[in-house]
Amino acid sequence: MRRSRWQVLACAVLLAACGKEQGGRTVIGFSQANLGEPWRVAMNAEVAEAAKAHPELEFVYADAQQDNARQVADVENFLRQKVDLLIISPNEATPLTPVVKRAFEAGIPVIVLDREIEGDSYTTFIGADNRAIGRAAGEYVAQVLGGKGNIVEIKGLPGSTPARDRSEGFRAAIAAFPGITIIHDPVANWLREEAMSQMESALSAHPKIDLVYAHNDPMAMGAYLAARAKGRDSTMRFVGIDGLPGLDGGRVAVQEGRLAATFVYPTGGKEAVDMAVKILRHETVPHRITLGTERITKGS
Ligand code: FRU
Repeated sequence: MRRSRWQVLACAVLLAACGKEQGGRTVIGFSQANLGEPWRVAMNAEVAEAAKAHPELEFVYADAQQDNARQVADVENFLRQKVDLLIISPNEATPLTPVVKRAFEAGIPVIVLDREIEGDSYTTFIGADNRAIGRAAGEYVAQVLGGKGNIVEIKGLPGSTPARDRSEGFRAAIAAFPGITIIHDPVANWLREEAMSQMESALSAHPKIDLVYAHNDPMAMGAYLAARAKGRDSTMRFVGIDGLPGLDGGRVAVQEGRLAATFVYPTGGKEAVDMAVKILRHETVPHRITLGTERITKGS
């Protein structure tokens, strides 16, 4: 439901009074694509941490468990609850676009985080430039391979925009090096276990693999483990994306020499909370906020 100009004005004066059923509080619905992956757990933790500074806001979390239909239902549920703002990190773009559009057109401010939807029916998109990250990975790979070698590219969930962009950026960068060939490019849906079994097939099919480029660190680690099990890990390099801190994260894997490099992919959790606060105060926010990245190699 779109609010009248008077309601909007009244909200600007006294935000708390505009809360819905939940005891007069302002409610933010946060629809997460899944919580099975460490990077998404980190995103939720970042949101929860930033939210501590705003006790006047109530965050309601939903976990779609990698299921598009479930995420559509989560957002519909938020619409029924009449949340004051929606934050969504969509599982896949096409199936989530209509419900996000419906929320936005009903007058609910929408923040899209990390993965994109189609079109621009949202208030703000926050995320890093995945094409640029893919390009940076391609340039790094071309450099360490000296412009020559066999690559296995392990892809994320095809309908999620970072998988498309990380592939296109990477391929654009290595196109300048005819000595580099992608010999195998399976989909492993962002998951370590799927990457492990895809890498087992790659290893049986190809006696010479010089480098594995995986669209995220868990898949790079899965590929590494498969290669190690065959005693071939030291004959190739592994490159991932995410660069999470912590024992299981990509940073430590690089410092310990399992991955040759990773590229930081910020979760945007804090920025989402900051933008939500501004939007609810009726401040103008940019339509797109592009977060930075950083290449991590041993010693960097
Ligand atoms: C987690 C994740 C990250 C990746 C991001 C892309 O679900 O797979 O590892 O960088 O999603 O959206």
